[in-house]
Amino acid sequence: MSMLSRGLSKTLTIAIVAVVIIAVVGGYLAWWFFVAQQGQQKKELVFIVIGKSVHPYWDVVRAGVEKAGQELGVKAIFWVPSKEDPQAQIQTMDSYIAQKVAGIAIAPSDPGAATPYIEKAIKAGIPVITIDTDAPQSVRYSYLGTGNWKAGYLAGLAAWYFAKQKGYVCKGCTLKVAILTGSLTAMNSLERIDGFKTAIQECVQKDPDIKGDINIVWLGPYNDQEDPVQAFNLALSVLQAHPDLHIAFGVYAYDGPAWAKALKQANIPPGKVVLIEFDVTSDNVPPITEGYALATIGQRQYFMGYYGVKLLYNMTVKGVEAALEAFVPEYPSNKIYDTGVDIVGKGSIEFTAPTGEKVKIMSLEEYKALAQSLGIDPKLLGLS
Ligand code: BGC
Repeated sequence: MSMLSRGLSKTLTIAIVAVVIIAVVGGYLAWWFFVAQQGQQKKELVFIVIGKSVHPYWDVVRAGVEKAGQELGVKAIFWVPSKEDPQAQIQTMDSYIAQKVAGIAIAPSDPGAATPYIEKAIKAGIPVITIDTDAPQSVRYSYLGTGNWKAGYLAGLAAWYFAKQKGYVCKGCTLKVAILTGSLTAMNSLERIDGFKTAIQECVQKDPDIKGDINIVWLGPYNDQEDPVQAFNLALSVLQAHPDLHIAFGVYAYDGPAWAKALKQANIPPGKVVLIEFDVTSDNVPPITEGYALATIGQRQYFMGYYGVKLLYNMTVKGVEAALEAFVPEYPSNKIYDTGVDIVGKGSIEFTAPTGEKVKIMSLEEYKALAQSLGIDPKLLGLS
């Protein structure tokens, strides 16, 4: 072998060894990069829950969201605007769609405005559900929350019961009923108002003592846009214009406390006006213990956050259909998971409404025990 060919074969050997080393190291690096990416993707499963306003009501939802996030080892983000703000909700949702989060739960203040964004997310492969208030015309996969029409109906039956006890229900009398709410677009508000009015109208017809002979004067619904200052001002101006008001309905968590504050300000003694609230929170319990609110409709909003994140998670790991089938009763003919409500007051009361419905009002103590048995910390609800 000539010097030249020996030199060539040495160079060739070195080149082959170098290629092999590069291939092995490169392959290893590629594999390492792939594994790291996979790990990162798993770590970065992000779920977003969009609420409606800053209130202790939503703090309970947030607690449910965070608990589910911890249990699943995923990032579960809760976001709310300070007061009713459909535009801010949608912009936030849109920015999370762009970030390709793993799932979105939204309580749309304006279901019409949210509908195209729900579709946009689902088209981008991001599962969307509604919580607290629905957008049934949209393509959302499920609604997880209170059956709001029925909840409003129960509030109406309770209002009638207390109004009757106070002697406000009599033949030929006038009954003034005022409604304060935080939204005139959100479905939960509209459904509660409709359920409440329907219950009172049915009681008017079916109560054997009056047989339809009573004049109901409806005041409102007044819209405070989930702003507690506006809620108080509206409540006060209603009381100033109608000091003879009989029934006050607080459709949202803000509204009962606003009525109670306005009643105090107007020097109307506790219990004179039949005040029915919504929700059991640190804001809603004092009006009950002070005797201003006679009952409140307790929602189970903790589960809207907790199950909301779990359902979205299951959609991403098991597939949308499988997750819905396992969770939503009678899916696919039904797409709603009703979290349920309880009626709560200072003491325990049971009555049969003129509509034939048997109604139970739980005492705050009974409700506290119920919350504990459901795994909800009563302190979260303002019950200690
Ligand atoms: C409603 C929410 C609302 C909250 C605070 C609750 O009763 O379900 O939609 O945001 O009150 O106003």
